[in-house]
Amino acid sequence: MTENGPKSDRYAVVGHPVQHSRSPMIHQLFARQTGEELIYERIDVSPEDLEVTVRGFGAAGGKGLNVTAPHKQAIFELSTECGEAATRAGAVNTLTFLPGGGMRGDNTDGIGFMRDLTTNHKQEVAAKRVLILGAGGATRGILGPLLEAKPAELVLANRTLERAEALVERFEASGDFTACQFDDLKDRDPFDLVINATSAGRGGESPPFPPSCVGEVSFCYDLAYGLKGTPFVTWARKHGAGEAVQGWGMLVEQAAESYQIWRGMRPDTAEILEKLAL
Ligand code: ATR
Repeated sequence: MTENGPKSDRYAVVGHPVQHSRSPMIHQLFARQTGEELIYERIDVSPEDLEVTVRGFGAAGGKGLNVTAPHKQAIFELSTECGEAATRAGAVNTLTFLPGGGMRGDNTDGIGFMRDLTTNHKQEVAAKRVLILGAGGATRGILGPLLEAKPAELVLANRTLERAEALVERFEASGDFTACQFDDLKDRDPFDLVINATSAGRGGESPPFPPSCVGEVSFCYDLAYGLKGTPFVTWARKHGAGEAVQGWGMLVEQAAESYQIWRGMRPDTAEILEKLAL
């Protein structure tokens, strides 16, 4: 924006770390496609500084924030009102600053994930055996829509058992599923759908999941994405997964839902995905 140019609305993604986030690029592609103008930044903020930073962004005229790990639950707590998906998840990935000082929290992770899985990748969930690895903010977003799609079985495995058990309790009304630790998966047959919602493997180590949970029948989906592939996708392919994909499509679809909340129009995601050719 030049000094004399049109005033652009400001948005950002907050996370810790956040350097890897491709949300700024995606939102600029949306803006170009829809003929809008906006500024979209990355803000790396630690949990201790989160509240001051978020309130400061809003006070300075910022319009909205996307929220990534590890802040989705903390932003839910800061929101003054929430959409249904965010309330059910107890996690927010889209924050909107309201006139008058309020902050509305929404969660578009679930709808974005399901759209990518079922429309872009043509996968069904009904009657399938589903394994989710991880019990953090990302899992909270996708659990409701997955349970609604009526899988034959859903297992939630996490390094810390208590966090997985807390989600079984939280989502009791949405459907039945079981919580366990990774070791408990050792004697299981491969699952039809295996979703990685952990940050395991990011440090270069091999993901700590028993290889027996993936096989020829498995469609493996990593909520993470990266230009050089992800540790989970590499791990899944190495252990014979039928197919293993990164979460680029989810990134684009959840961002499109955020864009609609903020700008009142939904970008054509098919065109963007084709352009990215990921
Ligand atoms: P997000 O919003 O991406 O879900 P998060 O809320 O910080 O981020 O959750 C991170 C998830 O990755 C958690 O399930 C975490 O397991 P714990 O609940 O036991 O902490 C999981 N995770 C992170 N590092 C991991 C590792 N090295 N091995 C296995 N799981 C890991």
